[in-house]
Amino acid sequence: MGNIISSFKHLFKTQKSSEQYYEAMNTDITGLGGHNSKCWMNVGYWEKAEYYNDANEALADKLAEFCHFSSGSNLLDVGCGCGEQDFYWKKCFPQLNIHAMDITPLHIKIAKKRAETEKSNIRFAVGNACDLGFENETFDRVAALDCAYHFDPREQFMHEAFRVLKKGGYYSASEMLPIKGEEIMQNQQIKGRKGLFIPDANMYTIEQYKAKLEKAGFVDVKYEAVGHIVYKGLAMYFLTRYLHFRKPIEKVRVKFNHNKWQEIFVGMFDFLYGTQEYYFISARKP
Ligand SMILES: C[S@@+](CC[C@H](N)C(=O)[O-])C[C@H]1O[C@@H](n2cnc3c(N)ncnc32)[C@H](O)[C@@H]1O
Repeated sequence: MGNIISSFKHLFKTQKSSEQYYEAMNTDITGLGGHNSKCWMNVGYWEKAEYYNDANEALADKLAEFCHFSSGSNLLDVGCGCGEQDFYWKKCFPQLNIHAMDITPLHIKIAKKRAETEKSNIRFAVGNACDLGFENETFDRVAALDCAYHFDPREQFMHEAFRVLKKGGYYSASEMLPIKGEEIMQNQQIKGRKGLFIPDANMYTIEQYKAKLEKAGFVDVKYEAVGHIVYKGLAMYFLTRYLHFRKPIEKVRVKFNHNKWQEIFVGMFDFLYGTQEYYFISARKP
């Protein structure tokens, strides 16, 4: 019971910075502790997955598809966490040369240690998405897996991504966003976003997102709304995890059914954060 209460407190606790927030959480999404052999930290894509690690991997698969990794050669992965996605992508796309960065030093320390142990040539560095520090036209893919909603502001990242991309290169991100006409400024939503480090400056609709990408110079903006898959799965995972908090994370199986009651979880993210929808987005530098 104490675990459940402390995990709820964790959800609403306001840390001083996004780095502190992620250092406190690390790979332990719900604040419940527990063992996981992988270091994933995303919301998951729960279309077929029933386990947290599988859902996280599926989200990475979908982003790779949106970002055309299969024809890429030089990837900048921004907000890489502890690098789980990069080790995974390198296995799926061995031709990719990967530079990965994250603002949280602990994540990069863990990723670098693993790269050393596995003798991997993935390069990890601490860095801020809004100030990429690479020369113009260095990469042919820039990806942000479940993290660009934190970037303060995300629009600056779009401009930076455009700058470091080569002509013909792709930008891709998976994103929490509000939808048109939804209430986003209720007290619990403002507080929820503050606790999650989602700046209010990033609270705009997908139509405005597209316009901002185009303003940065991108073309061919494409997107897919998957909130009904992501949010329902994540909420069901939280619930199952609370009920089985002693199990290792990789053993917590989420069972879905077609009962309508599970659908209420989709609205929970709107209620708590004002981020009703989740999208995969891609754009090309002409
Ligand atoms: C939800 S986690 C996702 C981690 C990883 N992409 C995954 O899917 O497992 C968000 C990550 O974004 C990083 N982050 C937040 N703000 C950032 C910024 N301005 N620049 C780079 N990384 C940032 C955090 O440190 C954290 O590792």
